[in-house]
Amino acid sequence: MKILLIGSGGREHALALKLMAAPTPVKLFAAPGSDAIGDLGTCLPLAAEDVAGLTAWAAENRPDLTIIGPEAPLVAGLADALSAQGLAVFGHDAATARLEGSKSFAKDFMKRHGIPCAASASVTDLHNGEAIISTWTHGYPIVLKADGLAAGKGVVLATTQEEALATLRSFLEGQFGEASKTVLLEAPLFGMELSLHVLVDVDANHARFVMLPACQDHKRIFDGDQGPNTGGMGAFGPIPFLKAEDIGQLRDELVAPTVRGLRQDGLKAQGVLFLGVMWDATGPKLLEYNCRFGDPETQVLMQLLNEDVPQLLLEVAEGRLDRERVKLHPGCAISVVLAAEGYPGEPKQGVPIEVGTPAITVIHAGTRKAEGRWVTAGGRVMNLSTHAGSLASARERLQEGFESVHWPGMQYRKDIGLRALRHAEAGLTVRDPW
Ligand code: AMP
Ligand code: GLY
Repeated sequence: MKILLIGSGGREHALALKLMAAPTPVKLFAAPGSDAIGDLGTCLPLAAEDVAGLTAWAAENRPDLTIIGPEAPLVAGLADALSAQGLAVFGHDAATARLEGSKSFAKDFMKRHGIPCAASASVTDLHNGEAIISTWTHGYPIVLKADGLAAGKGVVLATTQEEALATLRSFLEGQFGEASKTVLLEAPLFGMELSLHVLVDVDANHARFVMLPACQDHKRIFDGDQGPNTGGMGAFGPIPFLKAEDIGQLRDELVAPTVRGLRQDGLKAQGVLFLGVMWDATGPKLLEYNCRFGDPETQVLMQLLNEDVPQLLLEVAEGRLDRERVKLHPGCAISVVLAAEGYPGEPKQGVPIEVGTPAITVIHAGTRKAEGRWVTAGGRVMNLSTHAGSLASARERLQEGFESVHWPGMQYRKDIGLRALRHAEAGLTVRDPW
């Protein structure tokens, strides 16, 4: 199967490793890819957002499947352009990608289809926004969200009225360009956050989905959920204390209404939807949709899937997903991010990395090769991923990786999955305080 993979990060390297290990023989092309992905296939000198260039390449080279990793090309209409060439694409068209590309569009969708979520107001006018903030009755922090894509930096949890007003002004003045000219003001939710990925295959004639195991990401840079937010410092899944009935509740209250809603609204969806969920005292609430796989959740999910992944994604792309569940390896998978010195601020680039050959999986996120050596070339540099019979043993198995990879200034969290492990060991459920 000739596959074109769009993107260059850890998510894409994890996908590439899984595709190349599949029973189906794969010839891999990546755009732009990375030096690590280049060890598995051919990298094309085309940016992920270069819709015209990618479409021209695909029209000539006819990949059997294109997998679009990041959100920006989805929002920019890459899937539409490739589908118009009669090509199979795993990734949503631009209309559906607005679920991630516009938070107010997503919120309207949730409200229209009865999906539980935080109370909110959409604001484009400063005076209107100031009036809402000064009469705010939903408690603090006030959650302010830039409407459009802001590279994961467009959400602020303001703990005081002054901070909320200052953030509102800065957003509306264009801190993130057009993306923050509309701002969503949202009530805070308190509880346990989880990442729910669903393969969806929806068009005018059918609406099918299959849920992947629920994962948990860790957004803060430091152990104990301290310090600034990042793109995600590590993840694990499945969540050991989530029972079948809890997964059923997620399906019935969040996933099924979403899939029905897509069809009712005439939206086509052939790819993955990633639901950011907060499970609070009264049940699961939807925080947001992403129209793509999560990073580092993908690094976990690829460890867990016991499927011929090229065929599974092709089924979705060709609108013939027809299964109740996916096959999984038993146990639990985990992935820990190794980040550069300075991340999430200015990461230090070009630092030589020492990598041994651990038995666990080393995924490259922000690396490049310089004179035959790997060096840091991004904030999140590498991921160590593995799976084992339980979350506790998966955490233990990672130790070997930490001993095998090193560079000066390397930072990582040592507590990925620890809070969930303690929660499970104490016999607590998702309904107990987190
Ligand atoms: P996002 O960039 O949209 O993924 O949001 C970043 C993070 O903000 C989420 O992962 C949550 O931890 C947090 N967040 C978003 N909305 C809310 C909310 N209504 N209440 C509490 N936390 C939130
Ligand atoms: N890990 C969170 C994200 O990919 O948005």
